[in-house]
Amino acid sequence: MSRVSEKQHQPEHRNRPTGEAFMAFMRAGWAPRSGELPELTEAARYAAARREELSATYPGERLVVPAGGLKIRSNDTDYVFRPHSAFAHLTGLGADREPDAVLVLDPLPSGEGHEATLYFLPLADRDSEEFFADSRSGEFWVGSRPTLASASAELGLSTRHLSELPDAVAKDVGPSGLAVRVVRDADREVAATVDRVREQSGLSSAEQAQEADLALARTLSTMRLVKDDWEVEQMQEAVDATATAFDAVVEQLPEAVRRGRGERWVEGVFGLHARHAGNGVGYDSICAAGDHATTLHWIRNTGEVKDGDLLLLDAGVETDALYTADVTRTVPVSGRFTDPQRRVYEAVLEAQEAGLAAVRPGNRFKDVHAAAIEVIARHLLEWGLLPEDVTLEQTLDAEEGQFHRRWMVHGTSHHLGLDVHDCAQALREDYVEGELREGMVLTVEPGLYFKSDDLLVPEELRGIGVRIEDDVVVTADGARNLSAMLPRTVPEVEAWVRGGGRRG
Ligand code: GLY
Ligand code: MN
Ligand code: MN
Repeated sequence: MSRVSEKQHQPEHRNRPTGEAFMAFMRAGWAPRSGELPELTEAARYAAARREELSATYPGERLVVPAGGLKIRSNDTDYVFRPHSAFAHLTGLGADREPDAVLVLDPLPSGEGHEATLYFLPLADRDSEEFFADSRSGEFWVGSRPTLASASAELGLSTRHLSELPDAVAKDVGPSGLAVRVVRDADREVAATVDRVREQSGLSSAEQAQEADLALARTLSTMRLVKDDWEVEQMQEAVDATATAFDAVVEQLPEAVRRGRGERWVEGVFGLHARHAGNGVGYDSICAAGDHATTLHWIRNTGEVKDGDLLLLDAGVETDALYTADVTRTVPVSGRFTDPQRRVYEAVLEAQEAGLAAVRPGNRFKDVHAAAIEVIARHLLEWGLLPEDVTLEQTLDAEEGQFHRRWMVHGTSHHLGLDVHDCAQALREDYVEGELREGMVLTVEPGLYFKSDDLLVPEELRGIGVRIEDDVVVTADGARNLSAMLPRTVPEVEAWVRGGGRRG
């Protein structure tokens, strides 16, 4: 196993020169490479502390954490590479690094602690064919990449060639030897290699092995619930860049209307700023005008943006280190809410205020949703939309009620970080039922969505979708709204649009 990326077809019709004289000519005449080594990154310092924490959870076991490989988009073009979040968290590597790399934590002989080694495909020497002939890793094609020495200096861990991985994974594994766990969903081929090693060594049944891997995935998700100081800074950086990109979209609203196909224009403007300020968007932007705003994950973005409509923009910039914001603003394209739009907007805003007020240490994660949804349900009740004779208590009943969910079917919050829906494999007891703790970052994002074909709502509300979403960090005695710089109240939002994206 030297490459674990998806295999591409090798076209038959191309031939590559193979003559000795040509090869020699390609290899010669290059200036020597700089031997200068990079400094240890700040991200790597924090990653080392995270590896320590993981090491203490699994003493004496080998832990295999792949970055994942290149994935084919079509024929011989790949998607832009993005490492698995567990790998990014434990190495400090971000952006497009490093396809096919695998982090292995090997227990030290003393039984205490682990040694971390990164297996990856280092920059090939100029006398290799890879140098000029490999379109996925060769320097001629994809640019210079790290050497074993430079990656080691940058990340503060041992580095080895990827070809050594199979032996390293198998070494000393067995019933009386080491146990090994792998992050399964990062890379199917690496998971298969680990499975083969376990099978050959008679270490455990396939079910036991899968259970062991699931426990590792849970641990890695749970570890990310509380962000360290560097991560909180990353989140603020992501949100700051997101706010700038929102301003640019608001400035461009008249252009989106004028050009037609306006949702695409909005997506492009946001994407431009995301790519410029960070690695790109952290998830596909939801650019939803008019009735499209009632589709929760409207990412087709194929529609028009029209005066008189609301535009719901749910988008986030991802930093170079891969931390993403997740912010939503719903704005009147013309600069003024209609009365029904304002009525819906203010109900959602009131729900969001209630949710935000519930974010503080000691409260549970689920208290945030409970606070927001009660406001949503109360408004729906007052507007006469819930089934006849259903009381507020009845609709809020988790088992028998929940009628209000016809118009807000999603939860109010989720954890946010390296993944937009971060820590997804943490257990319910640690996530939904868990207490909020300092350093957690979550969204507060209630909404109301009245579809244009919903005959249970008055005509004037049909086709109105509103969501307001902010990103907050739990502090020692409350919470800080990382996205508070963006307009949120009706007058603020109207002034923002009318001022062409300038914040008051
Ligand atoms: N952007 C997806 C969400 O808000 O959860
Ligand atoms: Mn969200
Ligand atoms: Mn969102």
